Amino acid sequence: MSDDRFSLSDFARIKDRGGKIAMVTAYDAPSARLADAAGVDSVLVGDSAAMTVLGHDSTVPVTVEEMLMLTRAVSRGARRAFVIADMPFGSFQVSNRIALKTAIRFVKEGGAHAVKLEGAGASVERVKAIVGAGIPAMGHIGLTPQSAALLGGYKPQGRTADRAQGLLEEAIALERAGCFAIVLEAIPELVAARITESLRVPTIGIGAGVSCDGQVLVWHDLLGLSTGHVPQFVKRYADLSDRIGAALSAYVADVRAARFPESRHTYAMLPGEVELFRAELAGMSGRRGS
Ligand code: KIV
Repeated sequence: MSDDRFSLSDFARIKDRGGKIAMVTAYDAPSARLADAAGVDSVLVGDSAAMTVLGHDSTVPVTVEEMLMLTRAVSRGARRAFVIADMPFGSFQVSNRIALKTAIRFVKEGGAHAVKLEGAGASVERVKAIVGAGIPAMGHIGLTPQSAALLGGYKPQGRTADRAQGLLEEAIALERAGCFAIVLEAIPELVAARITESLRVPTIGIGAGVSCDGQVLVWHDLLGLSTGHVPQFVKRYADLSDRIGAALSAYVADVRAARFPESRHTYAMLPGEVELFRAELAGMSGRRGS
């Protein structure tokens, strides 16, 4: 790992000093490079890729092989940011052994520095197995999209006292199992604040308020590239869909009107070669005529 790479001790240090960790999802090398250059601390290769880049309508269908390909690309692009690979649905639920084998693949073949697993319950045991093998693991509770069907859809979680208490207990269990950080998704600010102050490891919020130790947003949401419903907790920092659409329309119009390419976009023959070429063409047409 390069010396200036954001590391596990930086996660802990920022928590201790009351700073904030900036995280974003990314799914390819150029995006990871841009995130890096902007000073993002950690890039999550989220299974949100299923929806944002693969066109599925949930995160469930994305496979380990697809996530590995995206993780490798992000690892090649991120020089400073800490790269976390999301374990997709079905890649860790069945057993500790399968979870560990998948986590090893993300580190060994994908170049990830850590993995993320959704849920508590059985995931607590999976975290222990993964961390026990020396791989850093991040937890994810609250709205866990892989189990959206069980949660009754993409709804905020922990809005009753009972469920809020349940989330706090899940967070503590994940911390005890060895998670180095925990994502809190779509839960009330007050609940996230209580969880954050109860943990020694940092919380990373998405729709969980400003008290979390860091924030994560999905690349396409942040940059205005998402299609369809955008959750209330998203802040759009740009409207790239409009800008890309305008650029592509201009290109189409230029092609149709023969305004592109211009001569500066084309290549000239080497000096003296035009005459030789013309002579060859003349010879060819003379032979064809005889
Ligand atoms: O898959 C993803 O992008 C995530 C973030 C929303 C935390 O899990």
